Amino acid sequence: MRILVIGSGAREHAIVLALAGGPAGEPTGHELHAAPGNPGIAALARLHALDPMDPVAVGDLAARLEVDLVVVGPEGPLVAGAADAVRAAGIPCFGPSAEAAVLEGSKAFAKDVMAAAGVPTAMAHVCTTPDELADALDAFGAPYVVKDDGLAAGKGVVVTSDRDEAVAHGEACLRQGSQVVVEEFLDGPEVSLFCLSDGATVVPLAPAQDFKRALDDDQGPNTGGMGAYSPLPWAPSGLVDEVVARVAQPTVDEMRRRGTPFVGVLYCGLALTGRGVRVVEFNARFGDPETQVVLARLASPLAEELLAAATGRLEERPRLRWHPDAAVTVVVAAHGYPAGVRSGDPITGVDEAAAVPGVHVLHAGTASVDDVLVSSGGRVLSVVGRGADIEAARAAAYAGVERIALEGSHHRGDIAARMPAL
Ligand code: AMP
Ligand code: GLY
Repeated sequence: MRILVIGSGAREHAIVLALAGGPAGEPTGHELHAAPGNPGIAALARLHALDPMDPVAVGDLAARLEVDLVVVGPEGPLVAGAADAVRAAGIPCFGPSAEAAVLEGSKAFAKDVMAAAGVPTAMAHVCTTPDELADALDAFGAPYVVKDDGLAAGKGVVVTSDRDEAVAHGEACLRQGSQVVVEEFLDGPEVSLFCLSDGATVVPLAPAQDFKRALDDDQGPNTGGMGAYSPLPWAPSGLVDEVVARVAQPTVDEMRRRGTPFVGVLYCGLALTGRGVRVVEFNARFGDPETQVVLARLASPLAEELLAAATGRLEERPRLRWHPDAAVTVVVAAHGYPAGVRSGDPITGVDEAAAVPGVHVLHAGTASVDDVLVSSGGRVLSVVGRGADIEAARAAAYAGVERIALEGSHHRGDIAARMPAL
């Protein structure tokens, strides 16, 4: 197959690696292209310069390359209509239409779909004025959960017991957009479950856990994600089936009923509360960094699976197979992330890290300047460790991280260190 992957993060590097056969698998022989890609992806795919936020350019590139499948990684291009442009060119696309991607693009819309589909989620008020904001905060009480309605790369959410901070964030969101969502606080461990959808049939991948806060012990601001692991040895055995039955399938059915079928990954961000599973958020794409650990464990051929989803044939696919190994990823972030990020620092030790048994290194915010690898974004690398269990995978991942040098960088030291007690 000839496949084009849109995006430039570690998630896209993980997708390209899985399409190529995985960190330890046999090469698949697919002809892989990526746009714009990054220096890590360049080792596996041909790169093409492209503004991924320009749907016409995405459609044109797919047509020019005559690819069999396009996989769109990030939410921005999806919300902008990249998948629509690819389909208009007559090429199968793994990724929802702009109309279906609103499931991620607007938290208020997602709440509406969940209410219609009977999907369990946090109670929420959508506020459009400072007075409504104040009333909603007092209705739920502390801890306060205040969410920017629109896309914010995982950084639009403030969870705090400080009412002034909650008000300040809510009012800042109102000044920037038109609405802000205030929610009931959900207590309990979080799980990310990615469900492939062809618009009708839902196929769950393996669940993962993400670490969203910048600092150890879940301190500091929310980020896009600082690390992840899979599988979840502590999760209830029926969890995946329950989430498909109560969350993913009803949501996919509701989107189809509305005339906007959801094709791609429905990312179910869940809290396992004392009162049962609740949806924290939906995303319309693979999660980053969870994809790095989930796809590292996938034994089934990813390209065939994504093509089946893009062409309405998921029902025909055999059951997914998984490697018994566990995987842990640790994100190496640039100085200042998630606030003001410093770019242009040289990165060394990537090859040494990748030489550690069971380790592979995925690029995100990296650039090659005069053949020197330098940082060019907030989350710079995702170091993935694989092992017989979480402990072994974690040891491998941190052995890899130790070999990498990037001035001013930071990473969490406690990824997958403790499992939640249920
Ligand atoms: P979101 O962008 O909606 O996923 O929110 C980012 C993070 O904020 C989540 O992963 C949670 O850690 C936290 N969060 C969001 N909503 C809630 C909630 N209702 N209760 C508790 N924590 C939340
Ligand atoms: N890791 C969270 C996300 O991808 O949104």
